Amino acid sequence: MPNENVIIALFGTKGSGKSELSKKIVEEYSRVIAVDMLGEYDLDQVACSVDDAINVLVEHEQSSAFSLSVRLPETDDYLDVLECAYEMTDTLIVVEEASFLCSASSFPPELSKLVRYGRHRRISQLYISRRPAEVSRDVTAQADVLVTFRQREPRDLDYLYSCAPGARMSRREFGAYVEGLPDYRCAVFGDKEVAPLAVIEASWRKMSEQGELFAVDGGSGARESDGAASSGEATPVTAAKTEDETAIDEDEAQA
Ligand SMILES: Nc1ncnc2c1ncn2[C@@H]1O[C@H](COP(=O)(O)OP(=O)(O)OP(=O)(O)O)[C@@H](O)[C@H]1O
Ligand SMILES: [Mg+2]
Repeated sequence: MPNENVIIALFGTKGSGKSELSKKIVEEYSRVIAVDMLGEYDLDQVACSVDDAINVLVEHEQSSAFSLSVRLPETDDYLDVLECAYEMTDTLIVVEEASFLCSASSFPPELSKLVRYGRHRRISQLYISRRPAEVSRDVTAQADVLVTFRQREPRDLDYLYSCAPGARMSRREFGAYVEGLPDYRCAVFGDKEVAPLAVIEASWRKMSEQGELFAVDGGSGARESDGAASSGEATPVTAAKTEDETAIDEDEAQA
């Protein structure tokens, strides 16, 4: 049984294997909603309009198993479906091409609610994008598990390094590791206890056997710095909650 409220951020250049890995992750969950813009997921039901998608969600609110691929003509309409998806419990939500729905400078409220409070409904989330810097920092900051296939761009490596404090290695070692990943093998950072099995299986075994798959330590763990990245400013993969978030959590708990 996979972890019931894990947030995963998955990155990699085009054709690196993100969607294939995502499809394996999906198999571990019995209730699945996929934002499937390219129609790649072979799930039980397909919705091509917001109304159809909402009808499926209402129909399966209490079902022990369902899987829905949402394929809409207008990108903005996905947010309406995701707003309703927040009402579901015990569900995995996959957001393919996450950079179409958010960016480094914008994070729509529908996604913000899912990322911040989805755990109250045991909603797991998988955000997929080619380049880490293309998605909102809110996603990477709240992710429990950060997964990347090979990356080469120094800017992307810098950004990833700043998001992966569980990696007890210097920026140079980090770059060499992520640039040197073999085809279809990923680097995994964060809390391995909550990572789906498919992620563990796709991780670069040689490296994980050497202990590169680290548990999150809140960023306080020893980490060498070669001065190439601002490790002192790194955002922990599991970010501490703000006072506002704690207050809302308490309100929700009382409701
Ligand atoms: N683990 C794997 N083993 C062998 N081949 C794979 C594996 N994963 C992916 N592939 C091959 O690579 C192709 C591209 O994979 P995939 O569609 O998952 O890439 P992607 O990262 O999602 O690309 P894009 O950014 O364009 O969406 C697949 O069609 C498949 O042929
Ligand atoms: Mg893909």
